Amino acid sequence: MKKYLIITYGCQMNENDSEKMSGMLDNLGYIQTDKEEDANLIIMNTCSVRENANNRFFGNLGNFKKLKKRKKDLIIGVCGCMMQEEHIVKKIKEKYSFVDIVFGTHNIASLPSLLEECEAKRKLVVEVLSDSDSLPEGLPVHRQFKHKAFVSIMKGCNNFCTYCIVPYTRGRERSREYKNILSEVTNLAKDGVKEVTLLGQNVNSYGKNLEDRISFAELLKRVSEVEGIERVRFMTSHPKDLSDELIEVIKNNDKICNHIHLPMQSGSSRILKLMNRHYDKETYINLVKKIRSEIPDIAITTDIIVGFPTETEEDFNDTLDVYKECEFDTAFTFIYSKREGTKAAVMEGQVDEDVVKVRFDKLVKLHDEILFKQNQKYLNKTVDVLIDGVSRTNDKVLTGRTDTFKLVNFTGNGKAGDIVKVKITDVKTFHLSGEQL
Ligand code: SAH
Ligand code: SF4
Ligand code: F3S
Repeated sequence: MKKYLIITYGCQMNENDSEKMSGMLDNLGYIQTDKEEDANLIIMNTCSVRENANNRFFGNLGNFKKLKKRKKDLIIGVCGCMMQEEHIVKKIKEKYSFVDIVFGTHNIASLPSLLEECEAKRKLVVEVLSDSDSLPEGLPVHRQFKHKAFVSIMKGCNNFCTYCIVPYTRGRERSREYKNILSEVTNLAKDGVKEVTLLGQNVNSYGKNLEDRISFAELLKRVSEVEGIERVRFMTSHPKDLSDELIEVIKNNDKICNHIHLPMQSGSSRILKLMNRHYDKETYINLVKKIRSEIPDIAITTDIIVGFPTETEEDFNDTLDVYKECEFDTAFTFIYSKREGTKAAVMEGQVDEDVVKVRFDKLVKLHDEILFKQNQKYLNKTVDVLIDGVSRTNDKVLTGRTDTFKLVNFTGNGKAGDIVKVKITDVKTFHLSGEQL
């Protein structure tokens, strides 16, 4: 029996692609393993979004050189966003010649044929399309969880935020036919899935390239109507495209979770312009206010980049101000990372690392304070929790999420996939604790 290991870096798009590769390999008779030494095939699904993801990949890949020397028949495949960058593929060919297969984000469905070719020829096989119109449908999926699943509703991105590599690695934006999405969700529900997360780089522009077209808000509604589906999540929403119709649909539909991930990136209108985000500080704040006034118990989370080229202390203070004003439920905070090929990489005024670090620490401190404050609202309340399983650190404790995506650790007798009522008895910065009722 041949065994495979897939190592995934990056976002849910990559997680989702890895689940599809896993499904294809299961169909070929491979068995999944989590031990490198046992694997006959190791695939690394890479992310280019920041430099540290690149470094981690090259570090780990370098470690496989020895393993490959010991196990001559081991096949090493590398795929994902980094393979869409020519200079990376060149580096792999030159310095990591033990790699057997290189394929890109548009070539996931070719994995079986690439493997066959590699086994037959025993030499490097490369397949990287720069973009593709086709969205492969019906690939088998080996899901990580039984009760929840990611569903890609579109691929690519047309926004070209000036710091971001994604439009180059994932190509132009293309939406899947809603009928295909609904039939995937129907099958998932039949299979016991209770929660689906609809994925796209900018879900609010869903459907633009389709002839038979419905809005994203309408899609959410239809997904929530699928029998057996209890919760619907989605990400990511670009603030420039978030519609009133979407706010309405979330407000009036109990199955659509009260959580919007709304990346702000910066609180400074000047920086937002340089980032090509198409909104300014005031528009962003007003949007958050509007959402909170329509849906008072909604959680709003965000992404922030610190140290974009030319960012001054004043710009950074704008970010802190907006953060305080919006009182985000949580945020992913990033230090700006220069990506080759993007517009920002050649901008003048790259900010000194030490200055950025001080700003970053300030932002993280504010983030923790506000998160703690936001979590206080849950004390003594009863919330619905979808159980993910037992806690990793204590098997007497169950763990799951509220519909606002808060992590809850609690005692009780439910099992993974159940939605149960939990009374919150204690509140920490990074989780809530409670007892099942
Ligand atoms: N499509 C999503 C985000 C995809 S990338 C959106 O637009 O919201 C996820 C996050 O990574 C981004 O929101 C951004 O905050 C961060 N990011 C992207 N490129 C980056 C870079 N060059 N340096 C630092 N952070 C970056
Ligand atoms: Fe990147 Fe901007 Fe597209 Fe998000 S919307 S993937 S940040 S270019
Ligand atoms: Fe995702 Fe990283 Fe690619 S964030 S889209 S895996 S560059």
